[in-house]
Formats: sequence, C-alpha cells, structure tokens
Amino acid sequence: MSRRAELQETLWRSDPHTALKHLIYRHYVNCWMGKILQKFPQATIVDAFAGPGAYVDGPDGSPVIFAKAYLEHSHMSRFRNLSIITAEVRPDRCDELSRRFAVLGTDKRLRIAPPLVGKFLDRFPDLLSAAHPNGSEAPVLWIVDPFAKEPPPMSVLRQCLTGPGLAVGRVARNPGRHVIPEGAGSGQGGWLSVLGCSRLAAGVCVCRWRGQGGAPGGGSRPGGRRAEDVRP
Ligand SMILES: C[S@@+](CC[C@H](N)C(=O)[O-])C[C@H]1O[C@@H](n2cnc3c(N)ncnc32)[C@H](O)[C@@H]1O
Repeated sequence: MSRRAELQETLWRSDPHTALKHLIYRHYVNCWMGKILQKFPQATIVDAFAGPGAYVDGPDGSPVIFAKAYLEHSHMSRFRNLSIITAEVRPDRCDELSRRFAVLGTDKRLRIAPPLVGKFLDRFPDLLSAAHPNGSEAPVLWIVDPFAKEPPPMSVLRQCLTGPGLAVGRVARNPGRHVIPEGAGSGQGGWLSVLGCSRLAAGVCVCRWRGQGGAPGGGSRPGGRRAEDVRP
C-alpha cells in the first residue's frame, strides 16, 4: 500500500518524524505538567488535530501520550486538575481515540473530554470555550499539528494566546524541511510576532508564556514573562 493510501486508513504507520515529534511532546509536557499542575488549580491541553490516539505499528498517539504523561508523572500525587480536549475531523479516528481513552487508568483530577468531531476552524469556537470555561484564564497548552500543508492562519493561532500562562507549541512536520505556515518568519504577522520567538528549526517546539499568570520563575521579557525553546 502506498503511504498516501495508508494515511487514509483510520490508523497509519508511524515514522521517524513521528517518533521525534512524540519525544518532544513527552519531554515538553513532562516539564509543563511538573510546573503548571503544581501551581495552578486547573489547566488544559487542547490537541486540535488529535488523530486516533495510536499508530498501527504500536506507538501511542499524542492525546494518549498526554493522558499517560499525567497518570505516570513522578509528581502526579501533587498535581491539580487537568482537562484534555481534542478535535479531529474524521469520525472513525474520533471513535478510535475514544476507545483508546476508555482503557486508560483514571484519576478524578484528570478530565478527558469526548473528542469533538469536525474541522479545526469550524470547532475553534467550541475549543476556545472548552479551554476557557466561564471565561477562565487557566493555563492552556495548544497542540496544533495538522497533516495538511495548510496550517491554520496566524490570525486564529493568535487567538489561542489570549490567556495568561498560556503556551502554543508547533513541531516541525519534517525535521530539516519544516513547513512554515503562511505569514511565518520574523516579519509582522509571523511566528515572531505571535510567539515572541522565531526558533522554528528542525524538530523544535516553540512556546511563549504570557501575562500575569505566566510560567513559574519567569523573567521580565517585554510582553511576556518567559520564552523558552525545547530541543529534541
Ligand atoms: C498529523 S495527524 C495528528 C497526529 C497526532 N497529533 C499524533 O501526534 O499522534 C493530523 C490529524 O488531523 C486530522 N485533520 C486533518 N485536517 C483536520 C482539520 N481541518 N481539523 C481537524 N482535524 C484534522 C487528520 O485526520 C489527522 O488525524
């Protein structure tokens, strides 16, 4: 079966890029959870292009990685509440993801919402309101990982950056050959203006902490308390 055909299946095979991306996710969320979930009473991860939660050759998909990162974290006993919110355009992948969530361990502090079926841009208002219930300004980690070489517009990603203590991560789709979103780069409207950081080289996750509730121990950069890069 061609790769193109394989990617049409509910589950597809992982590849080296997937393994690297997940290594970055694990590393990043382990640190993020260790800091954020001991400081704030509530935080949220939004995995906006969630996939089915597994690969046909065995590895977990990103939403399952995040849930397990919580449940298996060495500081989990001190963690407060985490919500995991997912969106996925394909109903079959949402069903598979629900099945994968159902067999995970549980903890009353970890709330995993049923996957939202639909296109990211169509479900964006629902994702935003689920991430900020009743206008909550709790920290939200957005994972924006589309398949298509049509990343969401910067104007939408910018809206993810409205709350304090919030980070946006995007991982290069193809290390060494990163697909840069429309308007990206260091110019006006690009990653630099959105994130305060333009490091989007191979396999690098970019984030920025903003506002009063920013990352613990944050510095005094203009417009945000701390910017940091995570390298594989
Ligand atoms: C790169 S895969 C996600 C992989 C997953 N994040 C992981 O690391 O295991 C992208 C997923 O986004 C879904 N997708 C594609 N276009 C979408 C859209 N406009 N809105 C929501 N999901 C979409 C695809 O069906 C696919 O499952």
